[in-house]
Amino acid sequence: MNVLDIKNLKILFRTGEGFVRAVEGVDIHVGEGERVAIVGESGCGKSVTSLACMRLLQSPPAYYTADTFDFVSRDGTRHNLLTKSENEMLTLRAREMAMIFQDPSTFLNPVMTIGEQLDEVFIYHKNMKPKEARVHTIEMMKKVGIPDPEMRANQYPHELSGGLKQRILIAMATSLSPRLLIADEPTTALDVTIQAQILRLIGERCEKEKMSLLMITHDLGVVREMADRVYVMYCGKIVEEGTVDEILSHPKHPYTKALIDTVPDMNTKTERFVQIPHNVPHPMNKPKGCYFSNRCAYCTELCTQKQPPLYDRGDGRKVRCYYKTEELWEK
Ligand SMILES: Nc1ncnc2c1ncn2[C@@H]1O[C@H](COP(=O)(O)OP(=O)(O)O)[C@@H](O)[C@H]1O
Ligand SMILES: [Mg+2]
Repeated sequence: MNVLDIKNLKILFRTGEGFVRAVEGVDIHVGEGERVAIVGESGCGKSVTSLACMRLLQSPPAYYTADTFDFVSRDGTRHNLLTKSENEMLTLRAREMAMIFQDPSTFLNPVMTIGEQLDEVFIYHKNMKPKEARVHTIEMMKKVGIPDPEMRANQYPHELSGGLKQRILIAMATSLSPRLLIADEPTTALDVTIQAQILRLIGERCEKEKMSLLMITHDLGVVREMADRVYVMYCGKIVEEGTVDEILSHPKHPYTKALIDTVPDMNTKTERFVQIPHNVPHPMNKPKGCYFSNRCAYCTELCTQKQPPLYDRGDGRKVRCYYKTEELWEK
């Protein structure tokens, strides 16, 4: 059973220069207990997609439509995220779907202590008295590996490091055992040494609470570590989809290949740091034909004229490319 079921999601922004097509008809699903990643460079539409799932995009300027945009709660009820009232969304967001962001500081209230902010979750959603809530707060802080939680609970956000703040956000997001956790670049703002610890914690929490995970990242290392299945996103479209093992070992789309080639090879210790030429085009300036055509080493005349469809091999493997398609089908 799917927890999240999205078909043909489109997201537009109205700007001074006209409409920006940030997301152009993506299909994404997350199964029960599944760990799914969306990977792509900055500007590809990953964050707006994840914010749309939580209905956290301000509209206007954002407008979105989808053929299906459902979240399925534990009791099997399908919730159409496009038509839920704001009150219903508040309940869903607290209890069934939670999100953690790149920068935990923007989410924490600077004038409340860490303990007070965590207490609120239990007071509002579990009807606990403050004293009882604090017991749960301390328990939760221990679960996310905060040393000396009694002392830390009385501190303010600015007294905590980025890593500790992200642990607090993970505690808040997972304390009510939501069914789906969406993590948007949760380790990008942290020191490299802390990143692995935070990823491990997210993995542990998902396993313990039987949560599905939608991990948003630009980092293939994070994909390898955290996901079973992956969507590669480029310029607001899915360009490749499959299991992490398959995609990382046999990429079919030149963009996926290029992303893999930009990761320095730790095993051979060679200085193999390749950059993909040019930048992600601005959404108002996407090339005619395949959006990757102006950066692609395999580009042909056809690619510059006509947008390739998302070819479906029928076994969960999909690729939006003319060049790799034959090879894909031969396999
Ligand atoms: N409020 C906005 N107004 C106009 N365009 C926006 C707005 N928010 C995002 N976009 C555009 O949507 C595209 C996707 O952005 P985003 O989802 O943040 O990318 P990613 O998370 O993959 O780096 C970008 O090109 C960005 O410029
Ligand atoms: Mg982003």
